[in-house]
Amino acid sequence: MCGIVGYIGKKQALPILLQGLRDLEYRGYDSAGIAVLDNGKIDRVREVGKVDMLAKKIGQVKIAGTLGIAHTRWATHGGVTEFNAHPHIVGSGKLALVHNGIIENYREIKKQLKNQKQESETDSEILGQLIFENYEGDLVKAVKKSLLKVRGTYGIVVMHADHPNQLVAARLGSPLAIGIAEGEYYIASDVTPMLPFTKQVTFLDDGEIANINGDGLKIQNMRDEIINKTITHIDWDQQKAQKGGFENFMIKEIFDQPTVFEDAIRGRFNMEEGTAVLGGLNMTLEQMRDIKRVIFVAEGTARYTGLIGKYAFERLADLPCDVDFSSEFRYRDPAVNKHTLVFVISQSGETADTLMATREAKRKGAVVRGIVNVIGSTIARETKAGTYIHAGPELSVASTKAYTNMVAVLLLYALQFGRIKHTSLATGKRLLQALLEIPEKMNEILKQDAAIKKIAESYKDYKSILYIGRGVNYPVALEGTMKLKETSYIHAEGFAGGELKHGPLALVSKDVPVVAILSKDQLYEKMKSSIQEVRARGARTLVIATVGDEEAKEVADDIIYVPDTMELLEPLLNTIPLQLFAYHIAVALGRDVDRPRNLAKSVTVE
Ligand code: F6R
Repeated sequence: MCGIVGYIGKKQALPILLQGLRDLEYRGYDSAGIAVLDNGKIDRVREVGKVDMLAKKIGQVKIAGTLGIAHTRWATHGGVTEFNAHPHIVGSGKLALVHNGIIENYREIKKQLKNQKQESETDSEILGQLIFENYEGDLVKAVKKSLLKVRGTYGIVVMHADHPNQLVAARLGSPLAIGIAEGEYYIASDVTPMLPFTKQVTFLDDGEIANINGDGLKIQNMRDEIINKTITHIDWDQQKAQKGGFENFMIKEIFDQPTVFEDAIRGRFNMEEGTAVLGGLNMTLEQMRDIKRVIFVAEGTARYTGLIGKYAFERLADLPCDVDFSSEFRYRDPAVNKHTLVFVISQSGETADTLMATREAKRKGAVVRGIVNVIGSTIARETKAGTYIHAGPELSVASTKAYTNMVAVLLLYALQFGRIKHTSLATGKRLLQALLEIPEKMNEILKQDAAIKKIAESYKDYKSILYIGRGVNYPVALEGTMKLKETSYIHAEGFAGGELKHGPLALVSKDVPVVAILSKDQLYEKMKSSIQEVRARGARTLVIATVGDEEAKEVADDIIYVPDTMELLEPLLNTIPLQLFAYHIAVALGRDVDRPRNLAKSVTVE
């Protein structure tokens, strides 16, 4: 939530900051602003709305300077107004600050300030004022002294008019990466804005302050100890973070799936032994055999992949599994111990609840492994062991390619555990072979895009749509509703097919269509009966069926065929038509699919 950019170097800062904000806009897009320091004076422009509005406002205004900070906001404290937008400038134009996070004790801090007049209603401006009042010629000292008083979370970047060659950044709970190039530095909430300029990146950890000035970059902690950070080489290429000719990121990322899926599985097979080899598991066979229970902890779409993981682990590895919301797990007293394997799953690797759940699981002695997309993100670093899903930058708020790659990695983990317990060589080989065939099968579904669009458009005026699935396709139904809700704002609910007649059937009418996933599995007949039941109550049905299943037409008003695969792998295919269905409805309704209202990509606040 909220994107921060900072630049210090030889180039003009303005274009770098503006492009950086565009790259980070998925993190928040209700207002944006930039501040650039030149000749001892800070120039600032802020605007309500998206970065394009800010760029328009800046227009031909000449903002020169090679040092600057910028921010795209997702409001927490204070409404969406220009006054509340960052950067905040305090001290009669002397100090500018951008902040991502929440200062919980801002009221107490405000009471202690000499200057009681603030321009905005934000906690961030109070922090800026505190830093200014603590300033006695040393910006790092002022930042440190102020942060020691703060309760809450922050990623901040600060500049001061009297320090024309200095940026100070600090972090507690909100991510900040620093890109290092020849004589210049880039700061941002994630690495995307710096990719065109450098691949050498270091990540601030909680409690660290970065001081960038003419002498280079120095990172210290709150006890003034200098920290020697490791530099990570980010091998994402910048093109992957662009739309590549597509209308928007969501459709581009849906179409990315066959390619990035290959990245998720590449080098992670041992075909001869019918098993997966995920180095990040980092456990001996003995340690693996010592695991008695698995818990998948995540939020939203990532949690749905955990539900799929549960089916896979129970089936292949014969291990009892639970799936939990990170936000619940962290506040319960989760019964975990050294025999519990906790998978924390997160695209961004920054979701606050999932990060806190990670720490809780570690504190309680569980074996914790991350399944994360963003390289160098906090959860990836804090779990130390675990696996990157290699989906590349996912910029649309609605997660698509990260979902499929999470499922791929979970299946591989399940197989790796399965093969030392319960799963035969033949099944292992069959599963690996089936995974290899997935990209081609995904392409076959994507080729039906035009037909799916036509179907989707005919559903756009419904006010509510129900989704049903069974077994491993129950989470697929849930994921279908998530994509529809967040991109089109149409109400949707997902149910396990067998649950319908225990209540939800009362919702069904001719005005409430039902999307049903009809897999050719052991529950085929039962699922068909459920679809018949909703049809008998007047519901229009869209059925996702397996190629060759002519009988499915008997219960379908509309039908989308997907290629056959092994049952456990079906979510990898069956979700794609549901992504396209939601996408085309949203576009037909004129929604901003990449940036749905009220949402942000990376939820770094509770
Ligand atoms: C939905 C979506 C969210 C995320 C959730 C967790 O399309 O993207 O539900 O899945 O906010 O985010 P990560 O995976 O970054 O922890």
